[in-house]
Amino acid sequence: CSTNPELLNELALAQSPKFLVFACSDSRVSPSHVLHCTPGQAFLVRNIANMVPAYDQLRYTGTGATIEYAVEELGVENILIVGHSSCGGIKRLMSYPEDGSAPLVFIDDWMKTALPVKTKVIAEAGDTDFQEQCDRCARKAVNLSLANLLTYPFVQEAHSEKKLALRGAYYDFVNGRFELWEHGSDNIIIAP
Ligand SMILES: *[C@@H]1O[C@H](CO)[C@@H](O)[C@H](O)[C@H]1NC(C)=O
Ligand SMILES: [Zn+2]
Repeated sequence: CSTNPELLNELALAQSPKFLVFACSDSRVSPSHVLHCTPGQAFLVRNIANMVPAYDQLRYTGTGATIEYAVEELGVENILIVGHSSCGGIKRLMSYPEDGSAPLVFIDDWMKTALPVKTKVIAEAGDTDFQEQCDRCARKAVNLSLANLLTYPFVQEAHSEKKLALRGAYYDFVNGRFELWEHGSDNIIIAP
């Protein structure tokens, strides 16, 4: 990482990022790199499979606190969820034994958030190869997280007042392809 002391001094005084970004912890999808963000532009959450669990005051408080801070205190104008190809969390979700015979305690519990997506993918595309199922699951999991964002009262409010845009993205790092869409819109922008 390069540093720019003057910029960093200025940033120390205040941050006013316009984006809250959810990205996977995967080392190949660094959001600063993918989105060319410079310091001060994006408030960032990284977790396994870039997921947003639904509003729940007793669980996942770390996620809730970050969203609340970004929306209520920083007043971000966009929340972007970036899914990606070959995601380990998505692979685990699509393949783990649901009888609990080989559990990964934390990952399986975390990925359970997206179980309805797995069920849908298997119903719609259960006859396609595993890779295709995972790609589909990764995109649909982004859509589920966008829907889950709206279960947070402060997100719902800012979004309905048109102060907050909700967007999904899918990054295929093998082909360098980046897809971007607005929550609820079928218009998908592809870059480059
Ligand atoms: C995700 O949501 C967008 C917007 O509603 C939709 O166009 C797209 O088909 C969805 N993706 C999948 C894989 O279902
Ligand atoms: Zn991942």
